Amino acid sequence: MLSLILTIFGFLVGCESLIPSGNCSLPAKGPRKFPPNFSFGVATAAYQIEGSWNADGKGPSIWDDLVHNNPEKVEDGTNGDTAADSYRLFDLDLQALKYLKVNHYRFSISWPRIFPTGDISSRNQKGIDYYNMVINKLLANGIKPIVTIFHYDLPSEIQKLGGFTNALFIDYYLTYAEELFKNFGDRVKTWITFNEPMKFCKPGYGEGTFAPLVTSSGIGDYLCLTNILKSHAAAYHLYRGRYFPRQRGKMGMTLDSLYFYSHLNDTELIDRSLQYYLGIMAHAIHSKSGGFPKVLIDDIGRNSMREGRSKSRLPSLEGEWKKYIRGSADFLGINQYTSRIARRPLQPIGKNPSMDRDYDTEEIIDEKWLQAKSDWLHCIPEGMEDLLKYVRDEYDNVEVFVTETGWSDNGELNDDNRILYLKSYIQGVLNAINDGCNVVGYTYWSLIDTFEWIFGYT
Ligand SMILES: *[C@@H]1O[C@H](CO)[C@@H](O)[C@H](O)[C@H]1NC(C)=O
Ligand SMILES: *[C@@H]1O[C@H](CO)[C@@H](O)[C@H](O)[C@H]1NC(C)=O
Repeated sequence: MLSLILTIFGFLVGCESLIPSGNCSLPAKGPRKFPPNFSFGVATAAYQIEGSWNADGKGPSIWDDLVHNNPEKVEDGTNGDTAADSYRLFDLDLQALKYLKVNHYRFSISWPRIFPTGDISSRNQKGIDYYNMVINKLLANGIKPIVTIFHYDLPSEIQKLGGFTNALFIDYYLTYAEELFKNFGDRVKTWITFNEPMKFCKPGYGEGTFAPLVTSSGIGDYLCLTNILKSHAAAYHLYRGRYFPRQRGKMGMTLDSLYFYSHLNDTELIDRSLQYYLGIMAHAIHSKSGGFPKVLIDDIGRNSMREGRSKSRLPSLEGEWKKYIRGSADFLGINQYTSRIARRPLQPIGKNPSMDRDYDTEEIIDEKWLQAKSDWLHCIPEGMEDLLKYVRDEYDNVEVFVTETGWSDNGELNDDNRILYLKSYIQGVLNAINDGCNVVGYTYWSLIDTFEWIFGYT
């Protein structure tokens, strides 16, 4: 009874400090100066800006298929056939980059431009030439290229074999990645193997709302994530063994994560949410013990037994794979946009089976939080700072590159809220650095208007 009274009392007095105010500002907690060599830049991805979807020998990707065969899946029925036309107009992008005085530009390479069928037998020199041009012009202007190897545009032919759910994917990915190291590795010194696997595997191979529209929740999504971990590690070891001695670059994976707060200061719930968003990939690569987080192994194993299965829907990473994946990165790319309040649900949530059902946590927001045009996006700079501190404590202060943050609006020129967002998020990064976090770069999404997948141009 006493503890209940204390909890209620603690809730009443502590409530304000447990949940961010949502007014999109953050006080400085230390010197207002970034470390030397800290890198500022902007990001894009191939399918979202390039257009020229079938030019110069490029093959179709699962996104070309989605927008052409199922345009109703995109909110405004638009597509990336032309997008910002960057394949033809890169010089305009370059002017914008120079105008912004960025240190780095993060962009992705389109796999079906390099290997139109996904396979090395279809190698397309014109695709290689395009990215050589981009990289050379960036370097000639003092802008460091940061290359995302895979940002969602899987060659259609590989999807016909099951895409990420087929373990054969690992060999295809490795051959593609090696082609990039061979052609560009003399000049590209920062490689990102995959962008946001969760944002791709869960809707793409689970919920069926994102290319390649596979509906296999709680099964296909976990297979996809597991094959991404294996492909990532294979590419890392290949690079370290065969290319690093001459090329001396760094490699990591970019993960997105919300940060979480709790009205009741339920720290176990906050940690659990972070394990489901970030730990599901980061634990295998960056933790001391490796493999999937224990809470996921336990939850998904238990639910699988309850469903009458003889083994867990979460593939096992025990044994050789676990050792092979652990430590397979030089840095962690973090995409951090916003935060949520986590709450234990009264009823089971999500489909049975599904990641949502396994996760079993409600996510809510505070009505007072400043909202962007996107309904999922609120300005919570505290979450940026707190996520970086969590990464510092959870993953032995691994080097972190913030590879995306950003704010949506109606395109108005007086974008005061974007200024507030940028100021406060950059302050969040600086506060984290002043508190010992090993953060080396900050990237804004995006350089130019992009085709935002199922949100189209809305
Ligand atoms: C900054 O970069 C320069 C050039 O790459 C290097 O010589 C120097 O050691 C770096 N400084 C720090 C503090 O990392
Ligand atoms: C929340 O709980 C943690 C762990 O029990 C504790 O260290 C922290 O001080 C608490 N925070 C607040 C604001 O009560």
